[in-house]
Amino acid sequence: MSNMIRASLSKVGSRCFTVQAASALRAAEPVFRDEEYADVDWNNLGFGLTRTDYMYMARSTKNNDFEQGQLSDYGNVELSPAAGVLNYGQGLFEGTKAFRGDDGRVFLFRPDQNGIRMQIGAERMCMQSPSVQQFVDAVKQTALANRRWIPPPGKGSLYIRPLLIGTGPILGLSPAPEYTFLVYASPVGNYFKNGMAPLNLYVDNEFHRTTRGGAGGVKSITNYAPVLKAISRAKEQGFSDVVYLDSVHKKYIEEASSCNIFLVKGNVISTPATIGTILEGITRKSIIDIARHLGYEVEERSVTIDELMEAEEVFTTGTAVTVASVGSVTYNGQRVEYKIGDGIVSQKLYKTLVGIQVGKIEDKYNWVVEIE
Ligand code: COI
Repeated sequence: MSNMIRASLSKVGSRCFTVQAASALRAAEPVFRDEEYADVDWNNLGFGLTRTDYMYMARSTKNNDFEQGQLSDYGNVELSPAAGVLNYGQGLFEGTKAFRGDDGRVFLFRPDQNGIRMQIGAERMCMQSPSVQQFVDAVKQTALANRRWIPPPGKGSLYIRPLLIGTGPILGLSPAPEYTFLVYASPVGNYFKNGMAPLNLYVDNEFHRTTRGGAGGVKSITNYAPVLKAISRAKEQGFSDVVYLDSVHKKYIEEASSCNIFLVKGNVISTPATIGTILEGITRKSIIDIARHLGYEVEERSVTIDELMEAEEVFTTGTAVTVASVGSVTYNGQRVEYKIGDGIVSQKLYKTLVGIQVGKIEDKYNWVVEIE
């Protein structure tokens, strides 16, 4: 952030101003326009929920479609006690982000990919889903309506959480008769509590995240509550997150609770292949493309726990997490440490990804959607 922005932010406190491109100035020299920011301590954003102004909501219709959605004030939703989501866990969520560039423009990152993933998940969970166009439009509307909550450049992003839930009442075990598509948002900073510090991961060989034939490949809400116990246990011992092994052989790594995992050896980057038990992360596949463009060889395949323990560098990816370097992995009482610090592969990938997301690095891939 330039000194000019920093000075203005501290001078006006929470009522600060967005930055805008000015042809009279160099590209890196933003100017301010009189748009208000929300009252947030932008320097101390973690990954907690901050109540924003608006949310988007649309209900499914009888002819397998969704009504035109609407923005309303952010608030509680009313549900039947017999709603499919409450009784049988018929629910999917997504996570995507809006970023503010130095010149004040607002960008989304590959929101269509989240819309497609929601459709695939809905098919797996027997749910109706909105079209990709409606999904992207809802994300845009929610971001723009909550614009004052998009952090200043370099301070974080607006995390946007689309939800698809079975809201129709159902007593017997079958798909709900009605679905609600809802989108809300919250400004966020770093996902992990120690900020950008390298992660210390714990490999759990008691709990598994999903099984073959389960729903691990889609973003079903039912994949997340079962890992809370493993995460809580690991956090109590000072670990950042848990890495899960496959449930059949207990030999292959799958992913962490909140992110996909990669390991580096020489010029080769390896990550577990998505074979139905691993979430098809949008950051995961973006990082694979970026890494290949940067000249790395990327392998998507079965990766054993032994290979993880012998890697030179390890990192994780996710929308919430972005790209996080891993300092250590502990498995069966053995702790191994990896390369961290300046010049590591994950740092190059992180900088490239974030540069594209905030409009600082040319988007050769057509991933970024400007929404003003
Ligand atoms: C995301 O990265 O967007 C996720 O959905 C992970 C979640 C555990 C915060």
